[in-house]
Formats: sequence, C-alpha cells, structure tokens
Amino acid sequence: MKREDFPILSNKNIIYFDNAATTLKPQCVIDAINDYYRYYTANIHRGVYDSSVLSDYLYDSTRFVVRDFIHCSSAKEIIFTSGTTHSINLMVFGFMKDYLDKGDEVLLSKSEHASNILPWIYLSKEIGIVLRFIPLSDNYSITYANFLSSITQNTKVVSLAHVTNVIGDVRDIRQIGSYCRKHNILFHVDGAQSVPHVPIDFIHDQIDFLSFSGHKMCGPTGVGVLVVRESLMERMKPVFWGGGMNKSFNSKMVYKLKDIPVRFEAGTPPIAEVLGLRSAILYLMEIGIKKIHNYELYLKRYLIEKLSQNPFITIYNKNSDSGILIFNVNGVSSMDVSKYLNTYHICVRSGSHCSKMLKEDLNEFSTVRVSLYFYNTIQEIDSLILALEKCHDIFKIVEY
Ligand SMILES: Cc1ncc(COP(=O)(O)O)c(C=O)c1O
Repeated sequence: MKREDFPILSNKNIIYFDNAATTLKPQCVIDAINDYYRYYTANIHRGVYDSSVLSDYLYDSTRFVVRDFIHCSSAKEIIFTSGTTHSINLMVFGFMKDYLDKGDEVLLSKSEHASNILPWIYLSKEIGIVLRFIPLSDNYSITYANFLSSITQNTKVVSLAHVTNVIGDVRDIRQIGSYCRKHNILFHVDGAQSVPHVPIDFIHDQIDFLSFSGHKMCGPTGVGVLVVRESLMERMKPVFWGGGMNKSFNSKMVYKLKDIPVRFEAGTPPIAEVLGLRSAILYLMEIGIKKIHNYELYLKRYLIEKLSQNPFITIYNKNSDSGILIFNVNGVSSMDVSKYLNTYHICVRSGSHCSKMLKEDLNEFSTVRVSLYFYNTIQEIDSLILALEKCHDIFKIVEY
C-alpha cells in the first residue's frame, strides 16, 4: 500500500520492519520540510513580513489538523513538544508534581516504555507518591478485571500506553477512560504506538492527557504532541521559560505569560518539524487509520502463520492486536539474529526495546521485534521467513 510514496524504498534495497522505533517518510513530508527551508524560512510569532506570516499561519493551523485527527475539543488543547518523552515529562513536572501529594497513587503497568515509568519513579522519590503496577495476564496484556483490582481509594492517576511497544497489546482505553472520569481519576494515554496505527478519540475515550511522537507516524523527528484537556491545561505550569511564551516581564520580577497553549512552547519551536507533522497527519487521514490497522493485522496474521511453522522459533505475543511481533530463534541471541538479517537488508530491532521492567514477567530480557506498517508487504514477510529458515542452520554450524 502506497510504497511508491516513500523514496527510501526505491532508493535503497531494504525491507524495513522497525516501524515501532521510527517510520519511513513519504515524499509529501520531505517536501513540506524542504519547502519551508527553501521558500519561506522565518521564525514564528515575531515578524510581520510575508514569510513570517505564512509560517505563523501554517504552524498555528497545524493545531487544528491535530485536533481533527485525534478528536479533541479545541486547538488550544494541543502543545507541540519534541516527542512523547518530552510530552510525558511536561505533564509529570508541569502538572502532576503540584497536583499529587505524598501517598497518592499512580497506576502503571510493567510493560510501559521507559518514558512512561522513569519520570514517575523520579517524582515518587521527590514527593513520595506511590507507583502501583497492574498485574499482567498470561499473555502479558492487562485485563479490565486486573485494572479494577489495582484501583484503591488513593488512586489519583492512571498512565498507560494505548498500544505497548513490545507486546503490542491494545488496551481498551475507552473502558478505562470511562471508569477514570466517573471516579475522578486523571487518565494519561501514551499514544506513541497507537496514534499512528489505531483510531483514537480524545473526547469519547475520556482522556485527560495524550502524548505521541511525529516520527512514528511518517513525520519528522524532533516533534511530538501533548494534548491536555483545556481546564487542566489552565492549571499546568511551564517547565521551560524564555522567549515566545511571555507577554511581559520587568526588573521588579513581575511577569505575564501568554495564553495556553503557547506558554508551554518556550524558545523557537521546531517549525519545520511541525509543518512536516502537519503533512504526515493529512497523509495518514487520507489513507484512513482504520484501513491501516486492518492491513497491519492481515500482515501480522500471515507472519504468525509462517513463523509458527518453524520449530526453532518461539513467538511471545501471538494474541496481540497490533502490527508488533516479538520472537526468538531458539539458542541464538536476538542481537545475532538481527545482525544476520541485516545481511539480507532486513531491518528489525533486538533487545529489551526500552521496556526493561517487562522482563520480570516475560522471563526473557531480549527478543527480536518485527513492527509492521502499511507500506510493508506479504512478499517482504516471505523474504524474512526464507532468511529465518536458513538462520538456525547457520548458527548450528557456527556452534560446532
Ligand atoms: C510506547 C512508547 N512510549 C514512548 C516512547 C518514546 O517516544 P520518543 O522516543 O519519540 O519520545 C516510545 C518509543 O519507542 C514508545 O514506544
């Protein structure tokens, strides 16, 4: 689907299966960034000349594009950040640090990415909040029953990935969001692996905070989004201070901040990257996220069917409903498998994939991860299977 839109696929002989790390970029995104640098480079919110006004318009109106894509109430709820990690840190240190008190509980899971665990660990050491982890089920996902049994009267925040980056399980965020809203619990969704792949609805899923990255959805690196419910954003404090976010300040140390969301975007923002993100979102909307998700599931089912026929391969997450699959070739390190696949120009990831707590349940520190996107094909999967079939024999020869 749409392979011809990706110059790297025609320029280089690669099979790219590392889409959970970052995705390839279509020509329209490359053009959007190039055009800004070639034809109308200017800083934003500062000049009155033509290129500055055009940059202002494109940057600011991208908030409307994001609003329509994830369906939140207002463009004011969109803060541009450098990526999911930045978004989560801004939420934790700009809002949660003041909102939470000693003894308050934050509910997470052990399959979260480092970015949705480490800021919370730091905050727990700083102000004494308690972190609790929803127990994982037999297939390493979370059930609604396990979620409910982890809630206590001290639970103030639930912070979960919509789709996890190793197991690839898709959480029922609508059910969780509805519970949280009814019980006055704030709900943060890490959308890094979901916003590019599955439909999400900020209003109907009753989300309070949503984080995601541009580079995992055909956009450039260096840009991401934090969506915050407007009433909560009004209570949030900036973490970064400087130009662009203030209305005035003086030697008496009196300052006035700009309105939301601009007060959270201190300094020169990633203008070219925001324009690239705009183009990426319009591109994905044209294809349709539902269509993308269904196609990924079709590819994944085929991949599982073929991999399952190989007795030397252990698959860990056959049941997850996303395009992420992790496995090992028995007796061979995941790093060796990915280096070996590289000799066939097949790009996969190996290791713990930034979710280091998961090994406490998975009993496997390191796996090979194939993560699919809409430009992957059945033929590419066949090439992977063929290479893996030879892989075990090669390593057996090396062992002896
Ligand atoms: C679930 C999840 N959360 C957060 C992140 C961090 O994203 P970024 O590195 O773009 O900040 C990732 C990246 O892989 C992820 O998969």
